[in-house]
Amino acid sequence: MNCITYNQETKVFSLRTNQSMYQMQVREHNTLVHLYYGANIGDTEVTYRIVSLDRGFSGNPYEAGNDRTFSMDVLPQEYSGYGNGDYRINAMEMEQDDGSDAVHLRYESHRILPGKYSLEGLPAMYGTDEEAQTLEITLYDRISNLKVRLLYGVFPNLDVITRAVRMENHGQKRVAIKRAMSMEMDYQNKHMDFIHFYGRHAMERLTERLPLHHGVQSVESKRGTSSHQHNPFVILCDQMTTETQGDCYGFALVYSGNFRCEIEVDQMEQTRLVMGIHPYHFTYRLNPGDVFETPEVVMAYSDKGLGRLSNIYHDAYRSNLIRSKYMNAPRPILVNNWEATYFNFDEEKLFNIACAAKEIGLDMFVLDDGWFGKRDSDFSGLGDWVVNESKIKGGLPKLVERINGIGMKFGLWIEPEMVSEDSDLYRAHPEWVLRIPDRSMVRSRYQLNLDITRKEVRDHVMNQIFSILDSCNVEYIKWDMNRSVANVYSAALPADRQGEVFHRYVLGVYDMMERLVTRYPNLLFENCSGGGGRFDAGMLYYSPQIWCSDNTDAIDRLKIQYGTSFGYPISTMGSHVSVCPNHQTGRNTPFETRGIVASAGTFGYELDLEKITPEEKEIAKKQIQKYKEREHLVQTGDYHRLTDPFRNTDYVVWQFVSKDKRESIVDGVMLKNEPNPHIHLIYLRGLDPSTRYQDKKTGQVYTGAALMKAGIPLPVGCGDYQPIEFHFCAL
Ligand code: GLA
Repeated sequence: MNCITYNQETKVFSLRTNQSMYQMQVREHNTLVHLYYGANIGDTEVTYRIVSLDRGFSGNPYEAGNDRTFSMDVLPQEYSGYGNGDYRINAMEMEQDDGSDAVHLRYESHRILPGKYSLEGLPAMYGTDEEAQTLEITLYDRISNLKVRLLYGVFPNLDVITRAVRMENHGQKRVAIKRAMSMEMDYQNKHMDFIHFYGRHAMERLTERLPLHHGVQSVESKRGTSSHQHNPFVILCDQMTTETQGDCYGFALVYSGNFRCEIEVDQMEQTRLVMGIHPYHFTYRLNPGDVFETPEVVMAYSDKGLGRLSNIYHDAYRSNLIRSKYMNAPRPILVNNWEATYFNFDEEKLFNIACAAKEIGLDMFVLDDGWFGKRDSDFSGLGDWVVNESKIKGGLPKLVERINGIGMKFGLWIEPEMVSEDSDLYRAHPEWVLRIPDRSMVRSRYQLNLDITRKEVRDHVMNQIFSILDSCNVEYIKWDMNRSVANVYSAALPADRQGEVFHRYVLGVYDMMERLVTRYPNLLFENCSGGGGRFDAGMLYYSPQIWCSDNTDAIDRLKIQYGTSFGYPISTMGSHVSVCPNHQTGRNTPFETRGIVASAGTFGYELDLEKITPEEKEIAKKQIQKYKEREHLVQTGDYHRLTDPFRNTDYVVWQFVSKDKRESIVDGVMLKNEPNPHIHLIYLRGLDPSTRYQDKKTGQVYTGAALMKAGIPLPVGCGDYQPIEFHFCAL
């Protein structure tokens, strides 16, 4: 494999994937300058793109002598530091012991290595020598003796390039890293739109697209998790880019804590994007010899629009990020008791739901919150991971055996990072929570964050959970996290290390999850944080699915799942059929429609199956059967957003196509029916134009070209929120 080259003469690095190219150059005074990221442009090195002029009020480094055209303030760079005359947003800031905070990064050396680099204690994409190559460029700050190693992982067949940074203190004195972004991307004169995913609890990853403006714009989380409010995945694209055409660039941070993505359009109409750990409440001390590694960013480029960009991410995560053996295996279709019972259940109720689930063809029963400690409401019990025998008489092993006995798997909910004040754990160890000395605490859902920066706390919690998992046949775990991190102070760390707490918290979560998946490699692991509050690529390294949102309303889910699909594979989105009127919105939708929406994800049910009507049971049986028949398309196919639910308020449709283009499903929801209706034609994507496809329901045969170019009419229906469903197979 040779996808990374260095031209000794011109000092140009070229990184190539099948459809993209990345170039940078070591230039005057050993400055590492960014040249290009975009479509493959052959062997032309675009060094000529750098045009240097004397710019007023843009300072010149001393070593440039009297050359007033050389200024860091306007040069596109690979990784900019603070204090060297570049007044834009920077990738890094560092403070030396004498209080000075400038950093002048210069090229020192580089290495090209087989395979993909890995990061200590952090999730990252992985790749064999056949799949990936690594470039490590070492930058050097002469005065502090700090080495900054820029890491690039190139996956030619996946069309992604990953980036991360390793900082090493080779000096004699301590330095404090105050900003350590994972990457920087400088564009010359490109007028772009910024697409990002914002929201709130129960309404995550809504889509917003805005033209970039002069100055700085950003998305971020300071909540200790990646958050419901913003997502660490963003897109920059040309203003004309659509789902099927145009240039676009994705940036995904593989991290589950505080983050910031900043974009600045500068005085020269250049755009700089930096992304990484949020500098807020972040200072990382490096003693001589110490190393700090940033999380990684996965970058992708598409010149065929946003649809292709999403499919690049879906494929890359499915093959080289998510490690679970379930990634490409059929997932057990589950029923979860949360919306069925909340905290009010006993073992008979649970068993009865499991029996009803078995009857309609489900595979697994998941016991949600409330099974442990004194957990009769959300006021108490977190931290006591021992079964609540007043609710589950005879204990968990007995219940699990009974449920296994009827041919159902058993799954369990946990929330290991938390403690309730009313718990045995808190009474024994009040010092094990994050708490600022002498200050009253911020509570949320009555619960506190355990100080999992401390190993003894992690050991205690995980050992309790391991003894539960060792005592019975639990085949699935839902790991929840139901508040933002606050009271950010660890009694176990000295004063000058408190700026590390947020990051150490995330490392603590990763350590706990790593222990879980290593000890139980056959466990199906679902992440959750009040729904999708930690829906990020970091979590996908540990779990192949994440509960997408606490909002199970099928109509709201159209927007939530649409936004999520831009950066994340469809098979990672936990998605369940729930009861109507819906518990979050009070809305009524047909049972079929709820099934169609939930099948665009990791399918399941979240309602009291004892209470559904015989007709609904029959529909559910068919839904389950159908999902099993089509699951391979959700798991391995290409995905196309045929409509934008933020613009098209009449209907929403999406499409899956198998990689061999032999099979495709088009699903959706009619949002409103009209009298004397319009005929809505939808245009399919990703088919083979000359292949003949048969509609399985009607038997009608179409060429792929006809389905894509002439379109097909949506059925004319009557009633609210009717389902839309097509299934095409190649003849
Ligand atoms: C969070 C989850 C829900 C459920 C509850 C239980 O809100 O997102 O699915 O597990 O916690 O308390």
